[in-house]
Amino acid sequence: MHIKLVNLKRDYGSLHAVQDVSLEIPSNTIYGIIGKSGAGKSTLVRLVSMLEKPDAGEVWYDNERVDNLTGGALIEKRRHIGMIFQNFNLFSSRNAAGNIAYPMEICAMDKAYIKNRVNELLSLVGLEGRGDAPISTLSGGQKQRVAIARALACQPDILFCDEATSALDPQTTRSILALIKELQAKMNLTVVMITHQMEVVRDACERVAVLESGRIVEEGLVADIFANPRSEVTKDFLSNLTNVKDSIVRWSTEAGRFTLRFRGGSTDEPIISNVAIETGATFNIRAAGVQHVGDEELGVMVLDIGPDEEHVRLAVQLLKKYGVIIEGDV
Ligand SMILES: Nc1ncnc2c1ncn2[C@@H]1O[C@H](COP(=O)(O)OP(=O)(O)OP(=O)(O)O)[C@@H](O)[C@H]1O
Ligand SMILES: [Mg+2]
Repeated sequence: MHIKLVNLKRDYGSLHAVQDVSLEIPSNTIYGIIGKSGAGKSTLVRLVSMLEKPDAGEVWYDNERVDNLTGGALIEKRRHIGMIFQNFNLFSSRNAAGNIAYPMEICAMDKAYIKNRVNELLSLVGLEGRGDAPISTLSGGQKQRVAIARALACQPDILFCDEATSALDPQTTRSILALIKELQAKMNLTVVMITHQMEVVRDACERVAVLESGRIVEEGLVADIFANPRSEVTKDFLSNLTNVKDSIVRWSTEAGRFTLRFRGGSTDEPIISNVAIETGATFNIRAAGVQHVGDEELGVMVLDIGPDEEHVRLAVQLLKKYGVIIEGDV
């Protein structure tokens, strides 16, 4: 299902939680929405998922306007949506199977069908034979797997994930993201992934929108945004990611005036050596690494340039000519 948002607005008193958001979320993809705490992510998701009405603007699913639906039509449309959350929202009074069965019971589906479907869903999320497990005996990752199975029980077209991995450790986060990617492809889902973690965007999403104070400040393919971030918030998210241990090795935290980003083929060329030879500038590399973003490789290097400002100017100029993206006090 293709989702289109047109000039969406939502105020809480004098607070503009969502201001004038227009977006297109293509079908059959994983779309990230990233923002800091209070940016308006959850509010936006409540509007898009028809849990709340916008003060102005429109929400479209394919060619149907859905923000103004009410009564039976709204309930019917909401059946096409699955949601998962940071705190899982499972019923502790029911076991794993009981939680997964719940939405199908609400729809008064046939008992035998439900039983079969629950087993099918348990194996789909890697919890085969664990249906009897009380929720309290499951790990965070297993709880989220149950929540995913429940969200997919009625075969939705869209899955909303609101900070679905925020309560999980990095390894469990990776396994849940891998599961979501696998299910997305298998079921042709449109997945909307709300997060404040750039790792989640890097590892799972195809496109991303960056939200700040209720507005979209940047939108595009994840690989493009990683290679050439434009807004301050995005740069900030990426600089936090730069310190992630498995993606970059940092030799010194004391310096590093410039951050260089290399894309695709240019990660294989000796650009730094060439620029050093051609300009006579000196380079002191403080950190470097290669990240995998989608199908692309992206080189990141944190360094200082010397010996003086004239050489900085020459080197920066030539690096840009080579297609390197430079951040820092240029
Ligand atoms: N029901 C509400 N009533 C009043 N204010 C609200 C309500 N819901 C959200 N807000 C406010 O709207 C702003 C955006 O909140 P929202 O929960 O959408 O942010 P968020 O990006 O999801 O943050 P977080 O990362 O902390 O979950 C915040 O300032 C919040 O206090
Ligand atoms: Mg939130």
